[in-house]
This record gives sequence, C-alpha cells and structure tokens, in this order.
Amino acid sequence: MIRFITAGESHGKCLTGILEGLPAGLPVSAEAIDLQLRRRQVGYGRGGRMRIERDEIEITAGVRHGRTLGGPVSFVIQNRDWSHWRIAMSVEPVEEDANVRPITRPRPGHVDLAGALKYGTYDSRDVLERASARETAARVAGGSFCRVLLEAFGIRIGSHVVAIGTEHVSGEYENLEPGKIMEIDPFSPMRCADAAAESRMKALIDRAKEMGDTIGGVAEIVASPVPPGLGSHTQWDRRLDGRIALCMMSIPAAKAVEIGSGIEASASFGSAVHDEIFYDRERRRFFRETNRAGGIEAGISNGGDIRVRLYVKPIPTLRKPLRSVDLRTKEPFEAAFERSDTCVVPAAAVIGEAMLALALAEAFMEKFGGDSIAETRSNFEQYLRSLEQY
Ligand SMILES: Cc1cc2nc3c(=O)[nH]c(=O)nc-3n(C[C@H](O)[C@H](O)[C@H](O)COP(=O)(O)O)c2cc1C
Repeated sequence: MIRFITAGESHGKCLTGILEGLPAGLPVSAEAIDLQLRRRQVGYGRGGRMRIERDEIEITAGVRHGRTLGGPVSFVIQNRDWSHWRIAMSVEPVEEDANVRPITRPRPGHVDLAGALKYGTYDSRDVLERASARETAARVAGGSFCRVLLEAFGIRIGSHVVAIGTEHVSGEYENLEPGKIMEIDPFSPMRCADAAAESRMKALIDRAKEMGDTIGGVAEIVASPVPPGLGSHTQWDRRLDGRIALCMMSIPAAKAVEIGSGIEASASFGSAVHDEIFYDRERRRFFRETNRAGGIEAGISNGGDIRVRLYVKPIPTLRKPLRSVDLRTKEPFEAAFERSDTCVVPAAAVIGEAMLALALAEAFMEKFGGDSIAETRSNFEQYLRSLEQY
C-alpha cells in the first residue's frame, strides 16, 4: 500500500517526505526528481522566492545503489533562505526581545484566521508556515517517485494550462490528445500548447501584476495509457475518481476538480454525455469513439485516458489592499503585501501531475501488488494477457 506524508514549514530548515509502498528494485535517481522540482518553479507569474530557491532533493533512506529497497523512501529538500529565518523559525525557545513579532493581522483567503481560531494562537505564523504552498515541493518530489513507477509500466502523465482568467484555449486545443500534451516543453513557463491563447494569457497575467492583483485559471492533467481496472466501485473510499479528486483538491488554491467533461455534462442530456461501447472483432478489443467520462466509470479506470481539470483560484496575497481585522485589537486594517506570486496555474499543473501520479500509483499497487518490481511486472503482464483473452 502506498502512503505518503510530508513535514516542514515554509521558512523552516527543510521539507521532509516519506513515501512507503514502492516495490523493491525500481531504478530511481535524484536527477529525475530534481527535474520535476525545477518544473514546479518556472511558471509564468511566479514571484521572487522562486529565484532565491533552486530545489534539490536529498534521498536519505530506502534507496541503495540507485534502486528502491522496498522500505519507506525518505528525502529532504533544503530551504535555501533558512539562514534569514533562523531566529523567527528556531526550534529552540528564543529571547523575548529577539525581534520576532507575532503576526496578528490575518490575510483573507489564507489559513491565518481559521488556523489561529482552531489552535487558539494570536500569532498566525504558527499556522501559515505549514499551510504555505512551499509544502508542494515535497509533494512534487514524492509524486515523482510514483511517476517513475508508473513510467516503468508505460503510463505517462502530462499537463497543460487551458485557461487563465477569461482567456482560454480553443478549437483542437480544448481536447488535446495526451501525446500532444506530453510534447509540451517540460520547462515551458505557461504550459499552453495554443500559442495564440498563450500570449493572451501572459498579457492577462502581466495586467494583473501591474494592477497589484492576482489571477487564477484551469489546468488539465492527463494520464495515458491507463489499464482498465484501477480503483473500485465496491466501497466509497476506493473509487478512483474520488481519490483523484481528493489529491487535486488538497493542492493549495485548488477550488474545483472536473473529471472528463463533468461540468459540461451537468448541463447536457444523457444521450450527449455517455461514451458508447463498440467492439473490434479483428483486433479483439472494446473501444469508444469518445472519452467524456475522462477514463473512469463507477470509480474504475475503463482503459481510456484519464483526464482531470483543476480549477485554481486567484491567489489571495494582493498588493491591492483587502479588508481584515487585527486578532488582538479587533481593529480593522487593510491587508496589502509587496511580494507575492501573481498566478500559480502553471505551477499547480505540475503539482497536479505529481498528485495524479500518487493517486494512480496507489491504485496500481493495490491492483498488481508485489514486493519487487519483477513481481509487480509479472502480475501486470498476466493481467494484460487475461484482457487479451477476454
Ligand atoms: C505553487 C503555489 C504557489 C502559491 N503561492 C502563493 C503566493 O505567493 N501568495 C499567495 O497568497 N498564495 C499562494 N498560493 C495559494 C495559497 O497557498 C492558498 O491559497 C492558501 O494557502 C489558502 O488555501 P486554499 O486556497 O486552498 O483555501 C500558492 C499556491 C500554489 C499551488
């Protein structure tokens, strides 16, 4: 069973991740993980911190001579500007006069007020450090190990940005084939295959930045090819669509998730929504002419490409002031901040890839099991043979 947890504060010493359940013998390298970490950092509309930090993973357990051992894999990612935060984020108690002022002014749209009330603190730093999207660097690392596992079985994951604010892709780019999505330059700052839409999206991000505002959008994440039979209809918490939705909704600033053409489907007649089933006698296989279900029916992958759309809100830290109230004095003030990202949709797409990899790797290992990669492969291939004979 795959399990993944992270630890670490935004301005703490490092992020830590533990990923359990990978089979033994899977070739893994820090370079492959670093490549994904770098992709998270290059998005158009990201702010200053991305230039300070170039994330690198240090694998600390679970791998020997370039291969997984079958035990938990652990890793750390150092926070490069930790030296500036040694006192503010010290593990040891600090002197009263250490010049560490509590944050009593909660920012709307962030954890600041809800977390302060929950933990009874008057210093929002106690909660905002962990709620920060910095944590997603550890998720991209953990998800990248899962991606390596899936790739060993031919399953690839990619993403593209389909909308920023009111600007969106059109025509063939609305339903782009996974092959074309995977061809997008991994380091493309906008991750949009439609060049005309991309320049409009960039202009909109620039305009938001000039106005001291922020902007959201939509990213599509796909996996292909995916064997039928991952996930299960038998229990609510085993359904693959629900598990993918949890993984996606847990990304900071994610506000909605769509599987296949779910949103359009809710406004259509049933006859225009479902993917009819055909059978090719020569090739002895079932096929569909459409994939509106996004590759999942009744919580089980159906052999189609998995297509997920992630709806990302405009991030909440704005140069333009938002009204709020001081935690201690209860006096109103206007929350305005100088340095922040303007748009995180391209970065969220990369994080979405990692989270889709995690959800699929979990379901994949449930289905095929195995302590070693050889055993997993043997189970996988036997299943594929059984499908051929079906
Ligand atoms: C990659 C990434 C970077 C982010 N950077 C910022 C940022 O610089 N400023 C900000 O206000 N929010 C940023 N966010 C969003 C906040 O972390 C998020 O909105 C906040 O923690 C509240 O969580 P919620 O939006 O899921 O409710 C970022 C999100 C992601 C995915």
